[in-house]
Amino acid sequence: MSAPEQADAVEILFQHQYAFVISKIMFTASDLGVFDLLMESKAPLTSVTIAERLGTSPFGMERLLEACVGLKFLQMERKDNQALYGNTDIANLYLAKSSLKSQYHSMKFTSEFVYPGMQYLADSVREGKSQTDRVYGISGKDWIDSLNRSKSGLQKTFMDAMHANWHLFGREMMAAFDLSHFPLVCDVGGCTGACAKEYISFYPNSTVTILDLPEVVEQANNHYVSPQDHQITFYKGDFFKDPIPEADLYILARVLHDWADEKCVQLLTRLHKACKPGGGVLVVEMVLSEDRKGPVRCQLHSVLMLLLTEGQERTSSEYNVLLSAAGFKEIQQKKMSFYDAILARK
Ligand SMILES: C[S@@+](CC[C@H](N)C(=O)[O-])C[C@H]1O[C@@H](n2cnc3c(N)ncnc32)[C@H](O)[C@@H]1O
Repeated sequence: MSAPEQADAVEILFQHQYAFVISKIMFTASDLGVFDLLMESKAPLTSVTIAERLGTSPFGMERLLEACVGLKFLQMERKDNQALYGNTDIANLYLAKSSLKSQYHSMKFTSEFVYPGMQYLADSVREGKSQTDRVYGISGKDWIDSLNRSKSGLQKTFMDAMHANWHLFGREMMAAFDLSHFPLVCDVGGCTGACAKEYISFYPNSTVTILDLPEVVEQANNHYVSPQDHQITFYKGDFFKDPIPEADLYILARVLHDWADEKCVQLLTRLHKACKPGGGVLVVEMVLSEDRKGPVRCQLHSVLMLLLTEGQERTSSEYNVLLSAAGFKEIQQKKMSFYDAILARK
């Protein structure tokens, strides 16, 4: 290795070793309200003013703000020998809690539940299975059952995180294929209804039934949908056992990656049986490249799936095998910026 190459390698090593510090700084600044304060204030502020308004020590706040400048969450200018801090676009868009596209809840789930759970990763690798009983402090029949039965507010935090992510990719996902000829939709494992809302805003003549577990539907009704969302209905059930509502299109967004191959085929076969001829299934997942070398966000998620579920991220061919085994045909895939879309027909 040449000297410049070695310097690059050390930089990469350092960045990765401290990646969790970056994650915690990003969440802490968001949680303390730094980005909301700077979004509301029309002018940049000093660290002393920010500390005063947010009730922190000036010394601690200055350290946090300087790190946020280095990470490009904040910009800093010097005026009259004073440092003045303001948000960058990424902070205004995604890190302020009050922003429409805020990822605060997604970061909260990662910071409060995924991060402590990572200490069990070596156990997951050794045993080849999830460690949900340790991560969530309660054992259930599967990861989602553990999560729903946890008393620590985890279920709501998880739902908030799922909901927040749709602000990142929802519109793009709806535009992946022309779905206008599928007016009757069932969002299987549809959680808070975030995907259903995106579907209806993109295809206004559609109606969406959300099939999810009773505890999840209760939460969704109480916190995420309102009477104005009259094109959305909920159906409480277990998608492995209970009847599947009738639909032209079944959406499975971020569901298959939670499950082992056999369970995926079981679920897809149930959907195929319920599907009208000409109907289809839309799978939304991060798809691994065929050589399994990336994208890295997909490889990272696959490790999280190992830790928390019985599933994994898959390649396009692997999804084709699962969909074909269930009887689906005409499988098409669209690569999108974050999650990918796969449409298959009956
Ligand atoms: C990873 S989340 C994805 C949620 C949503 N589709 C999204 O993309 O935001 C998986 C969803 O599947 C639901 N789920 C898990 N097991 C289920 C089952 N046996 N029957 C019905 N829903 C289930 C969970 O409650 C959760 O809402």
